[in-house]
Amino acid sequence: MRKPQRVPATGLPERVTVYEVGPRDGLQNEKSIVDVDVKVEFIQRLAAAGLTTIETTSFVHPKWVPQLADAAELLTRIQLPTGVRAPVLVPNERGLDRALEAGVAEIAIFASATESFAVKNLNSTLDEQFTMFEPVVGRAVDAGLAVRGYVSMCYGDPWEGEVPIDQVVGVGARLADLGCHELSLGDTIGVATPGHVTALLDAFRVAGIGPGRLAVHFHDTYGQALANTLTALRAGVTTVDSSAGGLGGCPYAESATGNLATEDLVWQLDGLGVETGVDLPKLVETSVWMAERLGRPSVSRVVQALAG
Ligand code: HMG
Ligand code: MG
Repeated sequence: MRKPQRVPATGLPERVTVYEVGPRDGLQNEKSIVDVDVKVEFIQRLAAAGLTTIETTSFVHPKWVPQLADAAELLTRIQLPTGVRAPVLVPNERGLDRALEAGVAEIAIFASATESFAVKNLNSTLDEQFTMFEPVVGRAVDAGLAVRGYVSMCYGDPWEGEVPIDQVVGVGARLADLGCHELSLGDTIGVATPGHVTALLDAFRVAGIGPGRLAVHFHDTYGQALANTLTALRAGVTTVDSSAGGLGGCPYAESATGNLATEDLVWQLDGLGVETGVDLPKLVETSVWMAERLGRPSVSRVVQALAG
């Protein structure tokens, strides 16, 4: 399979952690419900391709996201090599109970930077979401779990339009104060551009939350995800969320399309000589296999180019 010529650039990290969200962010938005056997094989293939952090599913209300209603069964079925992290999404204490019962070691809560999306996605106000999260993080940390905190709608909201940077930082800081070890800054509808990324990361730094504690999560609606990611890497971020084959979206956010495709990210990082540990040919094979299961080609440009 073709590879990019390796030509390093200055100002980049030596290694990047790819936080794979395909099984969760990808499959939560599928019109049809993917069979649990297919999910198991998908996750195991991702691990075999070298991904070491795979967000596998969500313990949300099954009526809100029926695509992931099989979370508990899925977790009893997957077998991952030692060292592979398998976080799950949890919105509230009921979700945490279910996740603890399933024996997870790591969870992610998901907050909204805007009032409108808090209502649509969590059925709560912006302030109420923290009342919901506080006991979740407290109990999870006491149980020895690592807790990631997502902030959604960081760069724009389909109902409210522009989102003030200080509002995003305010939400992120509250998640950090609750005990989240890492914040993932979500461009839920894919509208960010590089200057905005730099400004947001600067504002977090000024608030005492440096790039070592931040991850970036770009949806690729407007084709900006790779440029935005490179900007974040230059600012010192070393954890990047992406989804195999570019699957993804949020059923409660108008106009949210797939995440940055993991293959597109890995092609760029391989070319730059930045280590990810991901075997690109194996990953492409996995996305081609998954595309066959879903009945449509992958949207990833790299998958299309390499599998064509
Ligand atoms: P609600 O209806 O307000 O829930 O939903 P409630 O607390 O009023 O409870 C109602 C009933 O649901 C109760 O049952 C609860 O036990 C049950 P009853 O007593 O009536 O029999 N219930 C649950 N059952 C199973 N699991 C649970 C659970 N919670 C309550 N966890 C809720 C509130 C938060 C649950 C709901 O709004 C929800 O599930 N939302 C999730 C939406 C979602 O998953 N969105 C996609 C993920 S976010 C995303 O994609 C963005 C991200 O990728 C970053 C980015 O791109 O920006 C992360
Ligand atoms: Mg997302």
